[in-house]
Amino acid sequence: MAKRVLRTPLCDMLNIDYPILSAGMGPTLIGEPNGAPVELVVAVSEAGGLGVLGGAGFTLDGLQEAIREIKAQTGKPFGVDLLLPKNLPGGTMTGGKENLTLAQVIEFLPKEHLDWFRKVEKEMGFPALEDLMVNNDTTTMNPKEAVAICIEERVPLFAAGLGDPGWMVDEAHAKGMKVLGVVGNAKNAGRVSKSGVDLIAAQGHEGGGHTGRVGTFALLPQALDAAYPVPVLAAGGVGDGRGLAAALAMGCIGVWVGTRFLATNEGGAMDLCKQRIVESTDEGTRVSKLYTGKTSRANVTRFHELWDSSGLEALPFPFQVLLASALLGGLIRSGHDDHVGGFAGQVSGLIHEIKPAAKVVEDMVEQAADILSSKLPSTVKTA
Ligand SMILES: Cc1cc2nc3c(=O)[nH]c(=O)nc-3n(C[C@H](O)[C@H](O)[C@H](O)COP(=O)(O)O)c2cc1C
Repeated sequence: MAKRVLRTPLCDMLNIDYPILSAGMGPTLIGEPNGAPVELVVAVSEAGGLGVLGGAGFTLDGLQEAIREIKAQTGKPFGVDLLLPKNLPGGTMTGGKENLTLAQVIEFLPKEHLDWFRKVEKEMGFPALEDLMVNNDTTTMNPKEAVAICIEERVPLFAAGLGDPGWMVDEAHAKGMKVLGVVGNAKNAGRVSKSGVDLIAAQGHEGGGHTGRVGTFALLPQALDAAYPVPVLAAGGVGDGRGLAAALAMGCIGVWVGTRFLATNEGGAMDLCKQRIVESTDEGTRVSKLYTGKTSRANVTRFHELWDSSGLEALPFPFQVLLASALLGGLIRSGHDDHVGGFAGQVSGLIHEIKPAAKVVEDMVEQAADILSSKLPSTVKTA
């Protein structure tokens, strides 16, 4: 069958065939695989969308290597997503020391949290976590240096998953790059759009990973108005061609899709986490501060029960990341599979199989093109 045509101004802006971006997805926690690795980026870009590397889990050297690997594997445009947090305590997570093991770093946690961790560790038989390192040379701990690498490598699309990328926009534009900012409410859509970015991805409450409070359906028109004339991509809850068509009908010029691309052959999550998505219903995820200290959406597992039973308040970001990483690392290594899950969105209930990322792109385009070209005109009468 001939390839379908489904183009929006995004296709011209980014030089791609279809208005579909796979979202930047880092690892859920320290030691976990990256959600959007090189393989996923290449597969999505080769399929005519645009793949975005989840740059959050990399060391600085690792980021540069990954970008070069993508360039070696595809000549198509691609993106890199980084987290640009405003406040990192002292710029390290190891109290200013060299890279330490996670087992060493959790000793710095508040006594109440550490005592509870020790209790769980003993009761659940966690092995020593000597293999999990807390590195200070990560992109998240060194956002300026990580951005400099993206600029040096002339990454076609730079995406700021957290924070306002306004400070790097001019330099990126000078190298011919485009810049995208991810936002979770209309206020930030307005603010970030004024900092010179080319694109906004407005992510609703139903999305996987860090998430705001406003649902996608309500957020999009408000974000579109607030960001105007900067174009907007829909994010959070887009899992098939119906979501894509609806986003385009709202006035978005494309979609930023996470969970659906995580559950692909090339998606980077552990097989167990991909399986959780396939088995999940629409109610199978939950927002909590358990994972990072900021609100994030993940599969519901017994990990949530365990945390609830502690009665503890989540630590501020990024300290909660250390505690949750130590817990999840221990749970994985001690075979407590029913406690193991990762970031995922409410759209999980719509995902019934792991398939190649290229097939996700193809199916999404096919379905959206059918809706827009024949189904809608045959069911909606206008005059
Ligand atoms: C496993 C996972 C990891 C994520 N990590 C990041 C990240 O590192 N940076 C970021 O900007 N967004 C991250 N997100 C959010 C996605 O970029 C995207 O906004 C979200 O997945 C869209 O909602 P959806 O999951 O319903 O498609 C992550 C999402 C998931 C599911």
